[in-house]
Amino acid sequence: MSKLILVTGGTGYIGSHTCIELMNEGFEVLIADNLSNSDISVLDGIEKTSGKRPFFEKVDLSDETSTNLLFDKYPGIVAIIHFAAYKAVGESVSIPLKYYYNNLNSLIHLLNNMERKKVANIVFSSSCTVYGEPDELPVTEKAPIKPASSPYGNTKQICEEILRDTGAVNENLNIISLRYFNPVGAHPSANIGELPLGVPNNLVPFITQTAIGLRDELKVFGSDYNTPDGTAIRDYINVVDLAKAHVIAIKRLLGKAGKKKLEVFNLGTGRGVSVLEVINAFEKASGVKLKYKIVDRREGDVEKVFADTRFANTELGWKAEKNLEETLASAWKWEKKIRNK
Ligand code: UFG
Repeated sequence: MSKLILVTGGTGYIGSHTCIELMNEGFEVLIADNLSNSDISVLDGIEKTSGKRPFFEKVDLSDETSTNLLFDKYPGIVAIIHFAAYKAVGESVSIPLKYYYNNLNSLIHLLNNMERKKVANIVFSSSCTVYGEPDELPVTEKAPIKPASSPYGNTKQICEEILRDTGAVNENLNIISLRYFNPVGAHPSANIGELPLGVPNNLVPFITQTAIGLRDELKVFGSDYNTPDGTAIRDYINVVDLAKAHVIAIKRLLGKAGKKKLEVFNLGTGRGVSVLEVINAFEKASGVKLKYKIVDRREGDVEKVFADTRFANTELGWKAEKNLEETLASAWKWEKKIRNK
């Protein structure tokens, strides 16, 4: 078996799209996922799209023994992409220990096994949440890390610190941390996409569920921000573009050139888009008029954040390609497919 990549959280939203891109590029993929926020049927979607079925192990990485057994069973792992983590901002405020326990222990158990089994390469799934409300826009990788506004965000910061400190003493370890802005959309095949459990927290799944009739109306959180139309600004990045960046990161780690202990890249489009602009783009892409109302700001939201993508463009050789309208069209195609409409 050659070039086996362990993708933790591989049946999740970004993980599943990444598995397809990895297999399209000839990598073998082993998914480890505890299925706490994803469905095993995602494997069928991956297989349908890529023509190959990844290896799968149902593993809870916060359990040390299970993680050790995983690495014993698959001695050929050459690199890891670590997606597996809890990610609901609001829930992390009410149940912080659940987030600290899972997100930190999972990474620690992986790193212990990387040392034990001499696995050198890891790509970590980080977030622009580490920048908080940035002082300067677009935000570069050199921007200061701000105090986290939620335990979830704090776990991303602490995990980056764990990686940095471990990389400093383990000379075989090579790390790339990818800070995502707002991943949206679905695979153009509509074989896989975002599958939020219950009421979605994020904007785009809430929009598509409202358009399909599952929700009465979208609530736009705040129209008194210091932005051109008063609604908050984000950098919405197509999930397939994002997935491709992971393949480039893996190739970079596996190649000899450009190896450093820890590299950090922003993954966004560089374009800031307001909530009302997303709604307009969705209406254009879908032909559906969206019911929405403006309500108060949501606690913990930043006003505006979008990426300076120059470092990822030049150093990683990656650039977001898909525009917002086609991305929203893919999210809409996926929503219709899963609701049989
Ligand atoms: N929004 C609404 N109505 C909704 C949902 C969202 O108006 O029903 C607005 C939000 O207020 C925000 C924008 O749409 O202005 C985007 O909100 P999301 O919840 O989709 O995304 P966030 O930017 O809040 O959060 C995302 C990720 C987090 C990550 C954070 C970093 O979901 O994991 O970016 O900033 F921590």
